[in-house]
Amino acid sequence: MDYVPAKPLVIGHRGASGYRPEHTLESYRLAVRQGADYIEPDLVSTRDGVLVARHENEISQTTDVAVHPEFAGRRTTKIIDGAEVSGWFTEDFTLHELRTLRAVERLPRVRPQNTLFDGRFTVPTFQEILDLASAEERRLGRPVGVYPETKYPSHFASIGLALEEPLVRTLYRNGFADRADHILIQSFEASSLTRIHTMTDIRLIHLFEEPPADLGAIASYAYGIGPDKDLLVDDPRLVRRAHEAGLAVHAWTIRAENQFLPPVFRIGDDPGWRGDVTSEYEYFLDMGVDGFFTDHPDTAVAAVNAVRRHRVPATVG
Ligand code: G3P
Ligand code: CA
Repeated sequence: MDYVPAKPLVIGHRGASGYRPEHTLESYRLAVRQGADYIEPDLVSTRDGVLVARHENEISQTTDVAVHPEFAGRRTTKIIDGAEVSGWFTEDFTLHELRTLRAVERLPRVRPQNTLFDGRFTVPTFQEILDLASAEERRLGRPVGVYPETKYPSHFASIGLALEEPLVRTLYRNGFADRADHILIQSFEASSLTRIHTMTDIRLIHLFEEPPADLGAIASYAYGIGPDKDLLVDDPRLVRRAHEAGLAVHAWTIRAENQFLPPVFRIGDDPGWRGDVTSEYEYFLDMGVDGFFTDHPDTAVAAVNAVRRHRVPATVG
């Protein structure tokens, strides 16, 4: 049992992805400068085994790959996690090739202001993200944590590009191997986490989009759970049960726009306008969560600081 309540963590989800194209160095840098405690890269592999930050291995939604005629022949269809997916896949590109692409905004209709940055930023490697965190740590004089997620680890293992070894090796090379380090490794796949658990003492977070079954078993390898926020609304006792099992709870994903908020916290009818995201943070803080993944780290930092000064109860209807 190593759960110890502490100041709730603000985790910059894909950086500050409410303000910049996700998973770019500029998105991570902004998250840190807005006060995020951790920045969150989702990790996939290139053909030559380099870990890079993308939410999916299929990259047509978040890069300009579709307008590169030299890569037109790489478009293909694969089965990923049981679903048929068509497009371009990181495992079919060397790092050198991937670096010729540029990131674009995933949600141009929701976040049109972010499209100003389309075509300006590259796909970063995991090492570059660690370098950025280290540089910001020195500049700010405070810890800047990194919270990598193994994406599609079974798929990558099945094609000879397992994510776990390069992840742990890269962390080790950068001086990270202990529970006390400001690193948290997350995955939806228990097999990825238990494999990593045999390789390092770094803390692990098991992600869930369905209710977790056996919290005691999870606590044998994980520091905490990362539930979809809706699971906490459906079962507000989950936080207490997790804490009793010795597990921290980091909820995902808080976003400020109305369409991502529960109806009670929306303001006006426009799905793209910002709602009362502060009340959503307060709702989960009152529940006792230990951290949030958020696309808008500035709003989370403000809410955590305000609640620490004066707790305000909130409800979700
Ligand atoms: O990793 C926490 C949260 O990011 C899980 O959702 O799909 O955004 O990676 P996803
Ligand atoms: Ca993630």
